[in-house]
Amino acid sequence: MSLSLSADQPDVPADADDGVWLECIECGETFAPFDDVRYTCDECDGLLEARYEELPTFEDFEGEAPGVWRYSAALPFDEGVSIQEGNTPLYEVPRLEDDLGVEALRIKHEGMNPTGSFKDRGMTVGVKVAKELGVGRLACASTGNTSAALAAYGSRGGMETLVLLPAGKVAAGKIAQASLHGARILEVDGNFDACLDIVQELAADGEAYLLNSLNPFRLEGQKTIGLEILEGFLADYDAVPDRIVLPVGNAGNTSALYKAFRELVQAGALAEDDVPKLTGVQAEGAAPMVEAIENGADEVRRWEDVETRATAIRIGNPVNAPKALPGIRETGGTAVSVTDEEITDAQRDLAGEGIGVEPASAASVAGLRKLRREGVVGDDERVACLTTGHLLKDPDAAAAAGADPEPVPADTDAVLAHLQDAE
Ligand SMILES: Cc1ncc(COP(=O)(O)O)c(C=O)c1O
Ligand SMILES: [Zn+2]
Repeated sequence: MSLSLSADQPDVPADADDGVWLECIECGETFAPFDDVRYTCDECDGLLEARYEELPTFEDFEGEAPGVWRYSAALPFDEGVSIQEGNTPLYEVPRLEDDLGVEALRIKHEGMNPTGSFKDRGMTVGVKVAKELGVGRLACASTGNTSAALAAYGSRGGMETLVLLPAGKVAAGKIAQASLHGARILEVDGNFDACLDIVQELAADGEAYLLNSLNPFRLEGQKTIGLEILEGFLADYDAVPDRIVLPVGNAGNTSALYKAFRELVQAGALAEDDVPKLTGVQAEGAAPMVEAIENGADEVRRWEDVETRATAIRIGNPVNAPKALPGIRETGGTAVSVTDEEITDAQRDLAGEGIGVEPASAASVAGLRKLRREGVVGDDERVACLTTGHLLKDPDAAAAAGADPEPVPADTDAVLAHLQDAE
């Protein structure tokens, strides 16, 4: 099976371009990477993955500037359309680490990327591929963050962008970003999954180049999250983390991290037994991946009605499930759902360590707390939690989770009296 940790490095097909090609994860068909626009397999409609003739080890990550392009040895190009993405902090959180009772806990805060989410890592590669292919308009369906990143990277690359958003379900900061960066914004009377159905059809009709995570090149950029986490842990603990806990929507990151680790195993840079357990967290109201893991199912059932305060992961049809399910299973990980209340509590916990995240991001910490409570995660584990987006993405959720401002008169004595009253 091509997605197994112990898969052999494949032979280089004739349609490879400079040692890079696309391969169907279902039937193994190969395709030239940059000749035609293609998102899925021509033969069986399976998901595609980028493959490389040469797979790097840690020593090959030696680019001068930190960030995504330091890992160009693991990417299809040496440089992309860049706004200095990646190289995000791997914060220590001593109080939360104590409270959760694990050997070590670090927070990989992807909210510290240029547009405030991990999507930038995928877009720096994806928009570069779009330029290589010579396509015109770029498009995506989005719960918000993809649209912000596409708008920013599209404008950086001098390209037109179109985004489809579920009406009334996208956080204010994200719409503001897409708008100011010049995307044409269509508000669809339907949920994210309906938006993705439409944009896939537009892409199939040649109306636009699709930059959702169905696009295999987006995931290449997102692999660097995993590479940075491993390097950070190796530097600080002399060992890779036992587990990485991450929020799951379309399961792009789950797939991308798994691919990063598979490639390191194939290159002989990481032992199969050391691969971190990929642990996905979804909101209770949008948890089709959790359902599939719990039921041992090979396929994910599409949830038509999804709801959660964590709008970024309000997704019922995770398109990358065929890549992500083997990732969770082969690494010995799991998937768990959390309530909106647990998500907000975790958002407060992180804020209490000075780390501001949007609700979907806090799902990782909420999931870790639940798995500790259930004894699934041991007290001897070193864990990385991924926080995917910045607090300012969703100012309304942050304000609702935090304290209300207290009105006072413009008078020092009145302010003092107010402070004393409150004590
Ligand atoms: C903040 C945030 N977290 C998590 C996700 C889900 O990521 P993935 O689709 O890779 O599972 C998204 C995107 O949809 C997001 O914007
Ligand atoms: Zn196929």
